[in-house]
Amino acid sequence: MSLTTPAARRDLSFHLHPATNLRQLQNEGPLVIVRGDGVYVYDDEGRRYLEGMAGLWCAALGFSERRLADAAYRQMCELPFYHSFAGKVPAISAELAERLVRIAPAGMARALFANSGSEANDTAIKLAWYINNALGRPQKKKIISRQRAYHGVTIASASLTGLAFAHTDFDLPIARILHTDCPYPYRGARPGESEEAYAARLADTLEQLILREGPDTVAAFFAEPVMGAGGVIVPPATYFDRIQPILRKYDILFVADEVICGFGRTGNMFGSQTFNLQPDIITVAKALSAGYLPISANLVSGKVYDILLAQSDKLGIFGHGYTYSSHPVPAAVALETLKIYEERDIVGAVRRVGPRMQAGIRSYADHPLIGEARGLGLIGAVEVVRDKATKQSFEPKAGVAAYLVRRAQHYGAILRNMPGDIVAFSPPLIISEAEIDEMLGCFGKALDDTWAMVRERGLV
Ligand SMILES: Cc1ncc(COP(=O)(O)O)c(C=O)c1O
Repeated sequence: MSLTTPAARRDLSFHLHPATNLRQLQNEGPLVIVRGDGVYVYDDEGRRYLEGMAGLWCAALGFSERRLADAAYRQMCELPFYHSFAGKVPAISAELAERLVRIAPAGMARALFANSGSEANDTAIKLAWYINNALGRPQKKKIISRQRAYHGVTIASASLTGLAFAHTDFDLPIARILHTDCPYPYRGARPGESEEAYAARLADTLEQLILREGPDTVAAFFAEPVMGAGGVIVPPATYFDRIQPILRKYDILFVADEVICGFGRTGNMFGSQTFNLQPDIITVAKALSAGYLPISANLVSGKVYDILLAQSDKLGIFGHGYTYSSHPVPAAVALETLKIYEERDIVGAVRRVGPRMQAGIRSYADHPLIGEARGLGLIGAVEVVRDKATKQSFEPKAGVAAYLVRRAQHYGAILRNMPGDIVAFSPPLIISEAEIDEMLGCFGKALDDTWAMVRERGLV
């Protein structure tokens, strides 16, 4: 049965959609995607869209990389399932762990696999608690995250997430999760305050929070190098340089959530390298397999691993892991993905074309609707405002950025709007300069339409 008319799509949509306005979906039906080719996807009516978000920031190699399909097929034929409990391991998963640790930032020693970014962050919370029990500090359990952070939607990772939609009516956050300020120069810095002064103030706010709570009660600090779903927020210069000594001073674990930034997005293999981070734990997912199969990992430092080792001596087991931790098929796809990243120098590719996207985004900064254009590498965003001078936003219910994104889709580019009327760009890392121009061209036409719409409706 084909989903050819909106009515048919409505009737046939038995799919409960995540992160969706369910009423609107029921009225309008879904956009049904049936195939992909390079940076493009096609809907069931044959329309082509440039996927300016790499799906959900993940399809780094686009939508038609045969080598990944072949790697999955080969592995399915050879060993379709095995696990890594009780001393066993699929060979391919062991190979992936080695390759991943070798390309990881200095200090990482072991990789523990799971299926999603949320699970990896849940695991990191468990590790932070477990480590402090192992070290005889049972009271050192609070976790600090940041407002606007996005770390996932399981019970614990949603609690880390600093966005209202992940908490409201879900009875979250759970206890012992704290949120400190988001490093958000456009909205957080005071008039005339330098980036460095703002960073110093944020670091001071964090230290005050730690002191108020009691340093001996704080286990870990979580941060995305660049915040993604919270609005593509690039921290001010020296922010992490000031935060990290505070974490070390109070013996607080640093968990870098590289679920979006990992594997080239920011112009280095990891965001930790872009911002000179020395995390104790790194979580990765998404581009680890170019999004082709679900897989995530916790990379843990040698210091963390030694504690787990000693605790396993004591308890007789490291009592964590999933049936599908180390699943050989996503592992095979991830391994092939990492080989392709190296062979095609994906980091070099991002450095070559990233400036074109950044310049393109910034070329709209003078538009009356654009408060700020920002980003680095192949991640960027514009913030849509009602009044540039005062940075006043539109009423959320006016749905201005949502309209913009719908118009961009009409012109053939899929972008994403996020709370605060922010429109994100995060295309596949294989995108060419011509395709970047095409994506931004669709955005430009959509922006013109949006400008006409807000004037027509008297919103400005
Ligand atoms: C930075 C970050 N961490 C964690 C997650 C959660 O990953 P998943 O949706 O695979 O659970 C996401 C998802 O977008 C993310 O962007």
